[in-house]
Amino acid sequence: MPQLVIGTLEGRRVAVFAGRAHYYESGRADAMRLPLEVLKALGCTKLLLTNAAGSLRDDMQPGSVMLLSDHIAFAGTNPLIGETTEARFVPMTTAHDPEIRAGLAASARAEGVDLPEGVYCWFSGPSFETPAEIRAARVLGADAVGMSTVPEIILGRFLGLRCAAISVVTNMGAGLSDEAISHDHTKAMAPIGAAKLEKILRRFLRDGL
Ligand code: HPA
Repeated sequence: MPQLVIGTLEGRRVAVFAGRAHYYESGRADAMRLPLEVLKALGCTKLLLTNAAGSLRDDMQPGSVMLLSDHIAFAGTNPLIGETTEARFVPMTTAHDPEIRAGLAASARAEGVDLPEGVYCWFSGPSFETPAEIRAARVLGADAVGMSTVPEIILGRFLGLRCAAISVVTNMGAGLSDEAISHDHTKAMAPIGAAKLEKILRRFLRDGL
């Protein structure tokens, strides 16, 4: 279970998970269910997710950030499989909360940070995608690819949390650049986008919903 840090940031009460459990670690898409239930029990009403992602768009180079407008659950599983209550039929039409997204976009503008919107496609990992898979994701309408976040959005909506997510672009998708994709490269690029992310999130907490 990731570490939970509770405190005050920019005058707002926050509960932050340092890291997450990924589907590829256990084969369980509901690995984050208990942590999110803890947030709900603590009284959280909004869930802001962040991730590292590969970009499928030339205008989103490594080091940039992207606000998720929507997602594609391409990993082919769902964290609510096995749930027996009627609540399992979760509508996902506005899973990425329009009001929170507008607030995050306004925060980015106020901070002078470019924050394009795009569709995030969830691959299971842990291997990176092939160039053919990246081309397929593009055809499907994806702007970025990654190995997380979608299960948490589904679980978050199941729990009645209002959700939004921002990707930090760490690399171009496989086959889209000469740069070799590696976990080390991903980790090396993450801090550049993370600094932008911090500005947006601090501003959002100060001014936001
Ligand atoms: N693919 C999947 N997950 C990722 C990537 C990628 O290219 N970069 C960072 N996380």
